[in-house]
Amino acid sequence: MEVPKTSIKLNNGENIPVVGLGTWQCSKDEVQTAVHAALDVGYRHIDTAFMYQNEDAIGEILQDYMKRGKVKREDLFIVTKLPPTHMDPSLVKRSLEMSLKNLKLSYVDLYLVHLPCQLVYDGDDNNLFPQDENGCLKADPKSDLIATWKAMEHLVDLGLTKSIGVSNFLLSQVERICSFAKHKPVVNQVECHIYFQQKKLYECCKKLGVVLTAYSPLGSPKRMEGLIKANDPVPLEDPLIVEIAKEYGKTPAQILIRNLMQREIVVIPKSVHPERIRSNFDVFNFSLSEEDMQKIAAIRQYPKLVDFTPGLQNHPECPWEGNSKAPL
Ligand SMILES: NC(=O)c1ccc[n+]([C@@H]2O[C@H](COP(=O)([O-])OP(=O)(O)OC[C@H]3O[C@@H](n4cnc5c(N)ncnc54)[C@H](OP(=O)(O)O)[C@@H]3O)[C@@H](O)[C@H]2O)c1
Repeated sequence: MEVPKTSIKLNNGENIPVVGLGTWQCSKDEVQTAVHAALDVGYRHIDTAFMYQNEDAIGEILQDYMKRGKVKREDLFIVTKLPPTHMDPSLVKRSLEMSLKNLKLSYVDLYLVHLPCQLVYDGDDNNLFPQDENGCLKADPKSDLIATWKAMEHLVDLGLTKSIGVSNFLLSQVERICSFAKHKPVVNQVECHIYFQQKKLYECCKKLGVVLTAYSPLGSPKRMEGLIKANDPVPLEDPLIVEIAKEYGKTPAQILIRNLMQREIVVIPKSVHPERIRSNFDVFNFSLSEEDMQKIAAIRQYPKLVDFTPGLQNHPECPWEGNSKAPL
């Protein structure tokens, strides 16, 4: 059996733990239970965002573990994200400072631009989804990814984050940033699972030195209403995955996670149940055979399951328009 990798080296020399805890759609109480269980079992990578509105609850647990000497700051890998309403360069530093205050940290390990779509900032930091009269999200006409990126780079120079990256970016958007960046994005965090394998994006990002992080790696089975459509396939119930899980004596979730790890993709499953959190991390003691990896690679592909397009379809930087919504 090959030695399982616990981290992946980024293009700036930092290491990202290959399995992290997702925290989207976690209430403050839930996220505290989850982070507690995750740190106890060995997770060091926690993924959050200003938009998830749970950074402060996570910060309390991190602070408690560090004070009690149960974990050292340098062993943690904390990721948070710049919300679309704070992408104006004049707001970027202040937005990270708000996140750091919530998290009770002096720096994060990775700061991501959450979406390529800049939205209008109306003076209220917590109005994260400004809408026009038709219910469409209000695109900011000043949207300029290059200007935002320059403000992100400044955060590295100030020591407020070790690394910077992007999320939900199309290959063309990643290339645009890489073409002039002083600090290249280290990661592109995108939806990725057996039904949306992102093979082309993975290969092209690899050539650029950009690692993929897979969000919704289990297919986000309980994603919020409006993002779930009848007949959407369910990765955890896929017959091939269920069969492979039986063969290896593992759960379908462990097979889905291990498959991504063996593709050298970082994976951030979310759960609020300690037993699942433990089991989702128990993926370092087995390997999928090359044959099983190939079978999974051949699974039929579908459009993105977690579809944030409604409301953003008119945004000039919308990454899910037209063909880009089709699996690559
Ligand atoms: N950058 C972005 O735009 C973006 C978008 C989406 C997600 N993300 C990040 O990626 C993380 C993961 O994605 P996700 O939350 O969408 O979905 P996910 O991790 O694919 O799935 C989470 C769901 O699976 C359930 N689950 C977890 N472990 C399980 C297991 N072992 N067996 C059966 N069910 C299990 C969870 O239920 P319980 O909680 O009830 O256990 C939860 O409903 C997010 O939490 C967030 O940090 C980022």
